[in-house]
Amino acid sequence: MRIGIIVYSQTGNTLSVAKRLAESLTAKGHTVNIARVESVSEKNPPTTASDLKSAPDVGAYDVVIFASPVHAFTLAPAMKVYLENISSLAGKEVYCFVTQHLKWAWLGGNRAVRIITAACKAKGAGVTKSGIVHWSSQERDEQIGRLVDRLSDV
Ligand SMILES: Cc1cc2nc3c(=O)[nH]c(=O)nc-3n(C[C@H](O)[C@H](O)[C@H](O)COP(=O)(O)O)c2cc1C
Repeated sequence: MRIGIIVYSQTGNTLSVAKRLAESLTAKGHTVNIARVESVSEKNPPTTASDLKSAPDVGAYDVVIFASPVHAFTLAPAMKVYLENISSLAGKEVYCFVTQHLKWAWLGGNRAVRIITAACKAKGAGVTKSGIVHWSSQERDEQIGRLVDRLSDV
């Protein structure tokens, strides 16, 4: 399968999980590409597509995995704006995961996953697997391990 992991990551946490997932998927024989969503300015959250410096195309992938941090109890604005402007996801398998500092999913993680799911639905695809990594949790490594196992079972 051709798999795209589309990552927005400001401080590297989400990207580090994406890299572990990519390693696992590659070891299973898939062709994996990590592509970064980037904002023109990290100080001013993006509100329109023109505020994005990099907005990867998803057209080439059979499976697309969106990954983002939680910002201010919701999905990071860069990923929200990106998803609102991508081409159709129809016919693709779509997964997602988010990372957040706090230990409780109700402090932004659940909401962020819901927003990604709704955005993907608007583009023609259901999100069939998702996960949240709580960066301050003592069980962070186990959470990452379980997420990688689940999402690399394509
Ligand atoms: C502007 C901003 C807002 C944040 N808001 C939240 C939040 O509401 N809840 C939370 O648990 N973590 C919050 N965080 C922490 C990040 O979600 C967490 O550190 C994440 O793993 C960062 O991912 P990254 O390194 O890929 O950017 C926030 C971080 C930033 C920079």
